[in-house]
Amino acid sequence: MSKSVNLAVIGAGVVGSAFIRQLAALKTNVTFNVVYLARSSKEAVYNDDHSPINLNAYQSAAAKPVLSVSDLISFLTKANKPTILVDNTSNPQLADAYPQFVEAGISIATPNKKAFSSELSQWKKIFDASAKPGGGLVYHEATVGAGLPIIGPLKDMVLTGDKIQVVEGIFSGTLSYIFNEYSTTSPSQVKFSDIVAKAKSLGYTEPDPRDDLNGMDVARKVTIVGRIAGVPIESPTAFKVESLIPAPLESVSSAAEFLEKLPQYDDEMQKLKDEAFANNQVLRFVGKVDATTGEASVGIAKYGFDHPFAGLKGSDNVVSIKTDRYPNPLVVQGAGAGADVTAHGVLADTVRIAERIAQ
Ligand SMILES: NC(=O)c1ccc[n+]([C@@H]2O[C@H](COP(=O)([O-])OP(=O)(O)OC[C@H]3O[C@@H](n4cnc5c(N)ncnc54)[C@H](OP(=O)(O)O)[C@@H]3O)[C@@H](O)[C@H]2O)c1
Repeated sequence: MSKSVNLAVIGAGVVGSAFIRQLAALKTNVTFNVVYLARSSKEAVYNDDHSPINLNAYQSAAAKPVLSVSDLISFLTKANKPTILVDNTSNPQLADAYPQFVEAGISIATPNKKAFSSELSQWKKIFDASAKPGGGLVYHEATVGAGLPIIGPLKDMVLTGDKIQVVEGIFSGTLSYIFNEYSTTSPSQVKFSDIVAKAKSLGYTEPDPRDDLNGMDVARKVTIVGRIAGVPIESPTAFKVESLIPAPLESVSSAAEFLEKLPQYDDEMQKLKDEAFANNQVLRFVGKVDATTGEASVGIAKYGFDHPFAGLKGSDNVVSIKTDRYPNPLVVQGAGAGADVTAHGVLADTVRIAERIAQ
């Protein structure tokens, strides 16, 4: 008989529904029984006897209210089977409860950055619980660079005794697009505010572009890679994060008013771009951790035309990892957002966990 695991899948939004599609088509020798599927923050599909949910019909299945964290843990542990919680939400309350799931022996696969980039004490609680006998496993590759292999290789390097020197990258697809379009290796007259407006109209930004331009998403990712690289970063606000929002526009009430007023501040960025171009450099918005000094930062940096970051296209992410064994950095580049690539990162983690715990 083939080995099996139980899954609780939370969220069926952009990533969640792609995850469910990929899982339904998965061919492995482990059987995945989805025993709980929360298709929104209100509705869940599950059978009291833990019989598996049909993934091709979950949208139309009769739903019940979602279970609270404690009821969900009790429901899952009652099945007495190895279980993985797949959290495809950005819900902070669920992220806060990870230590409880892990202590109960439930493993976690997730693209949700919240738990790993909040206070360091939360990170420690999760991984301390995971290290205890009977603790669940925790995999979160898709919290940085979506499906790109960044966290796994970084952890492998640390595990096998390599010493991380510097991790540096373009971690935001939105800011990648904005700077790749704005600051190019050939002369261009395009304005910063026009590119921001274009990125918004293409759906690349959050509904309010300030949620991208404030640099906090990048700071959260830097916090995660920094901690793996051995730097005990207290929180994403514990180091210098350069915001691209002009100070007077921090407090304007709507995204529309922000976009309307942004052109007033184009000159400052233009000056920076022109200075860089005169030195054969482009501007990029990067996150960086120097593990040798323990310093982390997020902000605009200049790179020569021949640097890998200068040749980036579209909304790709790129991350460069310099270590004692890789003095010429290992560079990982590719799509850092999107339903299918993110879901593939979460599903690959789910399969990795299943290979270790299935019975
Ligand atoms: N989209 C990407 O390209 C990408 C890339 C990398 C990482 N991620 C990460 O992946 C996660 C999901 O992103 P997404 O783009 O799929 O977001 P999304 O489309 O907003 O989907 C999130 C889903 O989670 C549901 N949800 C929230 N709280 C819940 C709860 N307590 N119980 C059950 N369901 C709940 C939401 O339902 P309601 O509508 O009812 O609230 C919604 O359906 C986020 O952590 C995000 O940062 C996304």
